[in-house]
Amino acid sequence: MTEVALAPLELVLVTIWLMLPAYLANTIASIVGGGPPIDYGRNWNDGQRILGDGKTWNGLIGGTVGGLLVGHLQITAGADFFSDCYCYVSWGSSPYLIFFLLAFGALAGDMAASFIKRRQGQERGSKSPLLDMYDFIIGALVLTGLFGGGWLEYWFFSGWPSHGWVPLITLIIATPILHRSVNILGYKLGVKQVPW
Ligand code: CTP
Ligand code: MG
Repeated sequence: MTEVALAPLELVLVTIWLMLPAYLANTIASIVGGGPPIDYGRNWNDGQRILGDGKTWNGLIGGTVGGLLVGHLQITAGADFFSDCYCYVSWGSSPYLIFFLLAFGALAGDMAASFIKRRQGQERGSKSPLLDMYDFIIGALVLTGLFGGGWLEYWFFSGWPSHGWVPLITLIIATPILHRSVNILGYKLGVKQVPW
C-alpha cells in the first residue's frame, strides 16, 4: 500500500470526497423518491407505521444506484483529482463494493432513523435534528466498517498516524453543514417538502 502524507486541510477535503457516495445517495433518494413505500403501508405493533411514506423503494434503489454512479464518476471523470484515494483500497475489495456500502449504508441508516422516529410517534417529515443529520453517515460507517475489508479503518481510524482524528472530526462538523445546505437547496428547488 502506498502511503501518502496529507496536510490536515487536504485530509478534510479527502474525507468529504470519500464520503460523497453516501452524502449524495441521500440527496438522490429525495429526488427520485416516490411510489410504493418500503413498508407497503403496514403498521408496527404500536399502531404506527413501520417506516412511513417517506421511505420508498424508488428512493432506496435509486439512491443506491445513484451512489454507485457518483463513485463511478469520481474514479473516471475525477481521475486527476482525488480519485487515487480509492486505489489505496489494496486489500482486494473493489471500489464499487465501497461505493455500494456507502450509498446503501446511508439509506439503511436513514431507514433506521425513520423506524426510531415512528416508534417515538413522530410523523413522517417531522424534525429530529440529531437523527436526521447523522443517521445516514452512521449507516455508511457501520456498513463499510463491517464489510469494507479494512477500508474504513484505514481512512478513518488507525490508517496512518498522520490521520489522527481529522477524518472523524471532519465528518462530525461537516455533515450537519452539508446536510442542511443541501436540504435548503432541495427545498428551494422543490424536490424536498421541508427544509430539513
Ligand atoms: N426518500 C424516499 N426513499 C428513501 C429515502 C428518502 O423516497 N429510502 C424520499 C422521500 O420522498 C422523502 C424524502 O426523500 O420524503 C426526504 O427524505 P427524509 O427526510 O429522510 O424523509 P422524511 O419525509 O423526512 O421522512 P422521515 O420522517 O421518515 O425521515
Ligand atoms: Mg426528514
